[in-house]
Amino acid sequence: MKVLAVYPGTFDPVTNGHLDIIRRGSRLFDRVLVAILSNPEKKPLFGLRERKRILMMAAAGMPNVTVDSFDGLLVDYARRRGARVIVRGLRALSDFEYEYQMALMNRRLDSEIETVFMMPSEAYSYLSSRLVKEVVRLGGSVAGLVPPEVERRLGLRIGNGARGGRRSHRGAGRGSRG
Ligand code: PNS
Repeated sequence: MKVLAVYPGTFDPVTNGHLDIIRRGSRLFDRVLVAILSNPEKKPLFGLRERKRILMMAAAGMPNVTVDSFDGLLVDYARRRGARVIVRGLRALSDFEYEYQMALMNRRLDSEIETVFMMPSEAYSYLSSRLVKEVVRLGGSVAGLVPPEVERRLGLRIGNGARGGRRSHRGAGRGSRG
């Protein structure tokens, strides 16, 4: 039986850590459905359509990956789409408590849907959308941490112009997929 996995998140914006998980998931499951939570109350920097467009561009080289959006309960969405697996990335111990609560609540809501945790490459273990936005806001560079399209849009939106800032960020995250 073909296994469809949902990879849900806010993706505001997508980082190379998210893409690392998507790539790993795409090798493990027949299809991966990246599901962007439509959460206007969180006041995301990027609107839903923009997050979707960026993700579609970033995942264009992975033929078994599709991008969609959802609101309401994740398990309801997963069931509607015929997905039996929810993929979540686990970076560090600090992620664990929240992820554990969410996985068990989702299991209580639908015991047929299994949460699978995947670890990104250690090069991305500290990376988050929140930190990326903060670094750009304060003039730092996020080159190598986000797709070029995200870097460009962040620079235009909150940085000091294109390419996301003035201080160079060497090494971390660049080219590493583990
Ligand atoms: O990238 P994020 O912000 O950590 O993703 C969180 C997300 C979207 C997975 C989570 O907020 C979610 O599933 N929201 C949908 C509402 C829902 O199902 N809530 C109950 C989950 S326990």
